Amino acid sequence: MTKSFPNTRLRRPRSTDWSRRMVRETNLSIDDLIWPLFICEGTSQEIPVDSMPGVSRLSVDKAVLAAKQAHSEGIPCIALFPSTPPERRSERGDEALNTDNLINTALSAIKDAVPDIGLLADVALDPYTNHGQDGLVEDGKILNDETIGILVQQAVVQASAGADIIAPSDMMDGRVRAIRSELDRAGFQDVQIMAYAAKYASGFYGPFRDAVGSSGVLSGDKKTYQMDPANRLEAIREVEMDINEGADSVMIKPGMPYLDIIRDVKDAFAVPTFAYQVSGEYAMLVAAGQNGWLDQETVMAESLLAFKRAGADGILTYFAMEMAQLLNR
Ligand code: PBG
Repeated sequence: MTKSFPNTRLRRPRSTDWSRRMVRETNLSIDDLIWPLFICEGTSQEIPVDSMPGVSRLSVDKAVLAAKQAHSEGIPCIALFPSTPPERRSERGDEALNTDNLINTALSAIKDAVPDIGLLADVALDPYTNHGQDGLVEDGKILNDETIGILVQQAVVQASAGADIIAPSDMMDGRVRAIRSELDRAGFQDVQIMAYAAKYASGFYGPFRDAVGSSGVLSGDKKTYQMDPANRLEAIREVEMDINEGADSVMIKPGMPYLDIIRDVKDAFAVPTFAYQVSGEYAMLVAAGQNGWLDQETVMAESLLAFKRAGADGILTYFAMEMAQLLNR
């Protein structure tokens, strides 16, 4: 028996909705969605991000409401990013360790109000430095080990405020091991680490940097620590090191242009693997939708399903709320 026409007709199982559903290989569920939120100072604030239509920076009170809504839609986890005003930024990013900074205030307020939603917090200095780099800078160089000394403290401060998952997004070498041991020492054995393991030096982060107020201040690029988009094998080495250092889960970022990396990582390691559909990907899809060039709802659902097909266990996406509402309908 050969699999050839006319014995085999691949259109046959495709011919009705019930049959397509029956043979479907992958599914997207609300459990796959992590919703990133931007936090700003003040009360009752919702300040739109121009380059991300539909996304606003929320003051802590509004973020609490968003978290309640996310929980009631069934979204398992939200990720918080601070939009730090320029006067709180400094050369060494000291604001990162302020227990009352925006992110820590938001973490504890949301933990109080919505204890059953997961809270993910980024570890990196870029929201707090006046140069927009993720680490300490000396003579134009990003210092690796000195930066780690601050990141471990940032992780503990965020865990104390209520973070359930610490997500180092800085790409310094060796930071996962250092953060794991400092968390354990401080009594946070149950706080997870989701490593931004394969994070590329990408042009797709532009709108995010607008949202957190880093684009105006960023001097230079991040190519000495974020990965070269040309590299595939190196991603395996990055992920392997982070797993060996104690990461509970790993992330590939950006998302859609890097689906091959997601598949490689998923095939190589038995750990939960996440994709970040980043700000620029969101901006592209929404912009095309607003122009009437693409149907936004269709490409949103299709792009998120593609991550699952590539092997991702979950996706950080600015579409999380919209997608959850669509799935709940
Ligand atoms: C900070 C960080 C960035 C993103 C997540 N954490 C920006 C960067 O590395 O410059 C990007 C997310 C997005 O574009 O949506 N280290």
